Amino acid sequence: MNITEALLGEHAVLYDLFNHLERTSPTLSLSELIGRGSLLGAVLASHAKLEEELLFSRLEEVVGYTGPLKAMRREHGQIDGALERLAAADDTKKARQLLYEVIHEARNHFAKEERLLFPMAANTLSKDALCGLGARWAANRSVALA
Ligand SMILES: [Fe+2]
Ligand SMILES: [Fe+2]
Repeated sequence: MNITEALLGEHAVLYDLFNHLERTSPTLSLSELIGRGSLLGAVLASHAKLEEELLFSRLEEVVGYTGPLKAMRREHGQIDGALERLAAADDTKKARQLLYEVIHEARNHFAKEERLLFPMAANTLSKDALCGLGARWAANRSVALA
């Protein structure tokens, strides 16, 4: 399996989680919002870690630490920063705003990966390299590949 297809599949599930959080957040308390933020942070961090360790680092070996890769790593950090502010929020309205901010930033970030970064990976790395990274993704995620 090609690593970019695996990461696209993760985006699809995360989009569903974003929609669910937006639908259910208007009535949540401060502690519930912080709890949702913690859950969202855990899955986003896991996704970003695999992207960076598998795909970004391999691409950087070929094209260097350039524009789109730099931007994607910076955006991972910005999303982390908003999640940290949400964890420390002491006001319900602020916590809800921060949860929406994280979701907004993550959607924009995913869209850039889908339109720019994953196509760049497909054009830069060989099919063998992409599938080798896909096998490492599967091992990391405990997914059985046929
Ligand atoms: Fe990412
Ligand atoms: Fe991603």
